Amino acid sequence: MASADEVVDIETGNRLASVLRAGRGVISNNQALINDASIGDKGFTGEVFFSAAIEAYLKKNGEHPLDEGLDPESRSMTETQINAMVEVVDESQEIINADGLAFKGFIPAVFARLANEKFGEEMADRASIKVTAPKELVRNRKARPDEWENEVIVTKFQAAGWPVGEAFFEETAVDGKPAFRMLIPEYYSESCLACHGSPKGETDVTGFPKEGGSVGDLAGAISITLYK
Ligand code: HEC
Repeated sequence: MASADEVVDIETGNRLASVLRAGRGVISNNQALINDASIGDKGFTGEVFFSAAIEAYLKKNGEHPLDEGLDPESRSMTETQINAMVEVVDESQEIINADGLAFKGFIPAVFARLANEKFGEEMADRASIKVTAPKELVRNRKARPDEWENEVIVTKFQAAGWPVGEAFFEETAVDGKPAFRMLIPEYYSESCLACHGSPKGETDVTGFPKEGGSVGDLAGAISITLYK
């Protein structure tokens, strides 16, 4: 049974993960536009991103991510997260609008990492969001799982019978500080395989070797830490 405190933390963790997914989805939906070498100014500004992300979140969750009725702490955290995403899009205008360049490396995973780093800087000792992955799949060193994340991935998410999509959470400590931690598994869908699929080892459009993944395989996890 989750305690009352945990119930709030789980809600907060789920909201942060869902906002991250909504934001990545907006980048994904605009990937063809972003990658279009024939257009300079694409009009894909932070403001345009913001409206699309709110709309995507609303559609998925049936409520506004900044609903007035939210717990104030959770609401302010979500606000910081959305602002971080908008800033990343605003700060990436030069690359997004580069004329004559098709693939610019501005993809959902990179966007998410930049937004999560910004969020982490602003939230300092209050919260952090990270996308990590099983050790053998990690592309960016910054995404490497820490001991706790690795343990959960190996003993829970990769164990036979772990329910697909089920998150794991625990009251624990990070660097000696008490924290609520939550890890939410993510799986490859068809759209991921152009980069993470087969043949294993072949270089993808981003310059990384493909992992040989299949639809439904564990791809990574969203890791949320809420300091107490
Ligand atoms: C266009 C190629 C491309 C596609 C499509 C793609 N990825 Fe990635 N993915 C990357 C790159 C490049 C990185 C490293 C980003 C960075 O620098 O942080 C990455 C990073 C990740 C990470 C973070 C851990 C790590 O390895 O650094 C996860 C998890 C992940 N991708 C899962 C997915 C899933 C799930 C999908 C489909 C919904 C997907 N990716 C689609 C290229 C891609």
